[in-house]
Amino acid sequence: MSNKEKLIIFDTTLRDGEQSPGASMTKDEKVRIAKVLERMNVDIIEAGFPIASRGDFESVQAVAEAVKDSTVCGLSRALAKDISAAGEALKKANSSRIHTFIATSPIHMKMKLRMEPDAVLQQAVDAVKMARKFTDNIEFSPEDAGRSELDFLCRIIEAVIDAGATTINIPDTVGYNLPSQFGSLIKSLIERIPNSDKAIFSVHCHNDLGMAVANSLAAVQNGARQVECTINGLGERAGNASLEEVVMAVRTRQDLFDCDTTLDATQIVSASKLVSGITGFPVQPNKAIVGANAFAHESGIHQDGVLKSRETYEIMRAEDVGWNENRLVLGKHSGRNAFRARLGELDIEMASEEDLNDAFSRFKDLADKKHEIFDEDLQALVAETGWNSENEQFKLVSLKVCSETGEIPEATVVVSIDGVESSSSAQGGGPVDAAYKAIEALVKSETELQLYSVNNITSGTDSQGEVTVRLSKGDRIVNGLGADTDIVIASAKAYINALNKVVLSATREHPQLGDV
Ligand code: KIV
Ligand code: ZN
Repeated sequence: MSNKEKLIIFDTTLRDGEQSPGASMTKDEKVRIAKVLERMNVDIIEAGFPIASRGDFESVQAVAEAVKDSTVCGLSRALAKDISAAGEALKKANSSRIHTFIATSPIHMKMKLRMEPDAVLQQAVDAVKMARKFTDNIEFSPEDAGRSELDFLCRIIEAVIDAGATTINIPDTVGYNLPSQFGSLIKSLIERIPNSDKAIFSVHCHNDLGMAVANSLAAVQNGARQVECTINGLGERAGNASLEEVVMAVRTRQDLFDCDTTLDATQIVSASKLVSGITGFPVQPNKAIVGANAFAHESGIHQDGVLKSRETYEIMRAEDVGWNENRLVLGKHSGRNAFRARLGELDIEMASEEDLNDAFSRFKDLADKKHEIFDEDLQALVAETGWNSENEQFKLVSLKVCSETGEIPEATVVVSIDGVESSSSAQGGGPVDAAYKAIEALVKSETELQLYSVNNITSGTDSQGEVTVRLSKGDRIVNGLGADTDIVIASAKAYINALNKVVLSATREHPQLGDV
């Protein structure tokens, strides 16, 4: 990095990202993502909201133990019980941060908290003082700052800095602000608050009007030195500012920024694929930086220009964010060592030897069906690893489908439920519908199918199909993912994956709706 100031990257994929409906992750999945974020040099990883549930607490604890180079952060409302839980979960971290927040906008204070502004200010100060008993690294957020009154924001921020907050995060919680307005807000806060030089100013923008990245960048140009963001822009409702877009905008337009990040951008694409695979949220093809078409030049004029000089149409190099050509990497005869070595080259670290064996045996099955195996196939294989783990209730044993012109499609499925195999047949509007009906007859999940989508992982008719399924049951929403060269089997795998998640997903407290 040049001698410019540092822009701190605070990743909240594991916390705000997980608040996207259906994006829940297991403890092991969170550790896997956290290790990738650490390898990318993310400065701070917000690992979760420890008071929300036993699972959240244990996930934050596991990330705190696994990560050594990044600071690990836990979220807490401005409540003693939340702060103790966060402090406890972070105990083993090399470097920890507690992030405490309370709402400050008139509408939130009146309607949600039912508190007077002075009482909110006092609760914020008490929370920061209490958090200081666990760590010196304290972040405070006035929730819904984007709709809060400037005078009150100045008062509460000055008080929490005096109480020991070291980072002040300004959230545009409902994604209401426009860039010029949000930039001015950050500038005014830094200018008007007498002790603003004692803290780093941070921003946390939501994407409801598609402004999350633009607002974050405007804030950086006005003095913010931390951006909160997520891989693929995952997050509550329309999501958060996307990490890859913020980092690459700052890097590509260094002429306009007086700071830079220390992120290793070459790992962006593999991190994006991992998060998409684990959460079941596909990346749209035209998404900046990580979409499949982000660097594809379709028109003849563009292709001609790029061949003559890539700068004619390219402002970034695909390889700088980790894209490489579809590469034939391994085949049917490749051994375990070659497989392990290629995963290493792709910066994929398996959590255990068992996971490696599991992925390798599925690689062999795939190589029997598909002779050319590309990096993208390996990434999908790895995303699947752990799905068939011991504690999963449902496993797909076999599936047979009959589909013929003029006939009603019929599927016969064998599913293992808690280790006991049962079989069922059903007819449907198409082979996937028939397979889902046959599975549901055995599992009786009473879930509702909210989304079904298929993408091909590489090109060609022998490509693996990747299916995403979203199921809901009551207030629980989960996503399931399945990949196979046969899209009906991929669909059944995705459905079973989602059903297992429905069983495992416990109801958790939502940080921004809870009590005070
Ligand atoms: O959007 C928001 O306000 C949040 C806070 C908890 C920082 O996520
Ligand atoms: Zn948020």
